[in-house]
Amino acid sequence: MGGIKSGEKTRVLVVGATGYLGKRIVRACLAEGHETYVLQRPEIGLDIEKVQLLFSFKKLGARLVEASFSDHQSLVSAVKLVDVVVSAMSGVHFRSHNILVQLKLVEAIIEAGNVKRFLPSEFGMDPPRMGHALPPGRETFDQKMEVRHAIEAAGIPYTYVVGACFAAYFAGNLSQMETLLPPKKKANIYGDGNVKVVFADEDDIAKYTAKILDDPRTVNKTVYIRPQDNVLTQNELVKIWEKLTGNELEKTNIAAKDFLANIEHMEIPHQAGIGHFYHIFYEGCLTDHKVGEDEEASSLYPDVKYKRMDDYLRMFL
Ligand SMILES: NC(=O)c1ccc[n+]([C@@H]2O[C@H](COP(=O)([O-])OP(=O)(O)OC[C@H]3O[C@@H](n4cnc5c(N)ncnc54)[C@H](OP(=O)(O)O)[C@@H]3O)[C@@H](O)[C@H]2O)c1
Repeated sequence: MGGIKSGEKTRVLVVGATGYLGKRIVRACLAEGHETYVLQRPEIGLDIEKVQLLFSFKKLGARLVEASFSDHQSLVSAVKLVDVVVSAMSGVHFRSHNILVQLKLVEAIIEAGNVKRFLPSEFGMDPPRMGHALPPGRETFDQKMEVRHAIEAAGIPYTYVVGACFAAYFAGNLSQMETLLPPKKKANIYGDGNVKVVFADEDDIAKYTAKILDDPRTVNKTVYIRPQDNVLTQNELVKIWEKLTGNELEKTNIAAKDFLANIEHMEIPHQAGIGHFYHIFYEGCLTDHKVGEDEEASSLYPDVKYKRMDDYLRMFL
């Protein structure tokens, strides 16, 4: 990893920068003091929100780099500017789903030949552990694996950041589906509600990512985001909310077979969501294994004061 962390600033290109996580990664990279480049795709056209967001990054000190996924040479030129490429491209079924577009980024990184680290868009369940996942939700994992295989076959140094549920999708709603707000009276509890889950504020995930990306300890490793105080069961999460509000919710325990019943008759994005919730809340896929030879973010960076879920949930009071 010569050239990175040797006193000079790390040059980072963020791809997918106007996305939900990407915008947080851009800001975190700037806050971390990295020389931050942001991919500006001509395809965003008249998307005023994206255009304004890009120029807000510029105001904060980022450099905008024009490049298109339909123009290989433009991607090569963009990645030639930097030491590290971080992708936060879309992987959510109910939005666009473009994880595989990253293969073009891999080709550009191979041709450019200068990139010292690539962090592809991961930030969720750990794909090699999801070989058994239910379709159609498993598509995300299969595609992320395809990108990993291309990276590793090319010998590009990498880090995979995985392992936590975004708090906005999973904690604010007390893990209820199809809402992002806490329930007022009733809550569905998955199984007995005692499976351990990991929650993280997306700004903390971005903060960790900005630290991980040029850390020699994380090269060719998976880094799990598993901050101890945010490893909670659904029952514990609901309790935190009940304590904050002083109101007890009416709970309904849902057996796994009922949760999965009729899945095949649902809309595809909903099927994918049900599958992901099943793996997280019934199977415990985020916590059923040790970190082992890999790394854990809050242990690597104990100085980061990550947001605890009682603090997170206060915004809904
Ligand atoms: N752990 C969790 O709970 C959780 C939850 C949600 C997502 N995730 C993961 O986090 C990662 C980022 O997801 P997100 O929700 O932040 O993504 P997002 O907001 O849906 O999209 C991110 C960016 O992807 C880029 N993009 C979309 N379509 C594209 C295309 N055709 N060509 C090139 N770029 C395209 C766009 O970048 P620009 O327009 O800025 O170029 C977009 O802003 C994914 O890997 C996802 O699986 C995890």
